[in-house]
Amino acid sequence: MIIDVVTLFPSMFSGVLGESILKRAQEHGQVKVNLLNLRDFSKDKHKKVDAAPYGGGPGMVIMAEPVFEAVEHLRKNGREESFLVLLTPGGVRYDQTLAQELSKQPGIILLCGHYEGFDERVSQGLSPLEVSIGDFVLTGGEVPAMVLLDSVVRLVPGVLGSQESLVEESFSSGALEYPQYTRPPEVRGMAVPEVLTSGDHGKVAEWREQKSQEKTRARRPDLSEKARRKKYRQI
Ligand SMILES: C[S@@+](CC[C@H](N)C(=O)[O-])C[C@H]1O[C@@H](n2cnc3c(N)ncnc32)[C@H](O)[C@@H]1O
Repeated sequence: MIIDVVTLFPSMFSGVLGESILKRAQEHGQVKVNLLNLRDFSKDKHKKVDAAPYGGGPGMVIMAEPVFEAVEHLRKNGREESFLVLLTPGGVRYDQTLAQELSKQPGIILLCGHYEGFDERVSQGLSPLEVSIGDFVLTGGEVPAMVLLDSVVRLVPGVLGSQESLVEESFSSGALEYPQYTRPPEVRGMAVPEVLTSGDHGKVAEWREQKSQEKTRARRPDLSEKARRKKYRQI
């Protein structure tokens, strides 16, 4: 999978791409991340990409033309099939289901905004999927792009050592993950639940399922309801 990131701040990505699973996935050729500086697609002699908003108001808006140029450059260079995502607080809410869908794409192009965001004609002309990572406003689309990158790449087959951990982790089954414990068996008077050291795999699985359901009902009743409706629809 090739992930292209169109950004005004490519250097922000070096930390996150240079460590852990994202680093390994690139080294193993499972994913290629290509950073493009939006300024390189400006026709302005000062490489300007933003201008004041029509109608007045604070801040600056990213002009449409450099974004069109960047995307057209990518489309002409093997990214005909890449899925186009524009990051904006006004987009559809990002979640694990969308991460799973994106991980099946041959490629993704991520458009990171800044200032007051993009000229509306970017959306009009390119019809990207507009995605928000939550109901809050960040300075730019770089951190949201990193969130997408990380969550999608770990779902690409073969990237994580154990595919089982993907099946069991929070949200994959529509529930939160059960509590986890590791050595030593007792920490500051708190013991590991006995069932986990019993060696009875059936009982362990039952306990985990029960704890996962309890935790989901208590913390995210919306997820329990969503999972129940999905199950009902399947019947
Ligand atoms: C300061 S924000 C612009 C906010 C915009 N004026 C508004 O009120 O919706 C600048 C850029 O950060 C990114 N951004 C900020 N918050 C985001 C979020 N919750 N999800 C996705 N992208 C976000 C977008 O790319 C956006 O264009």
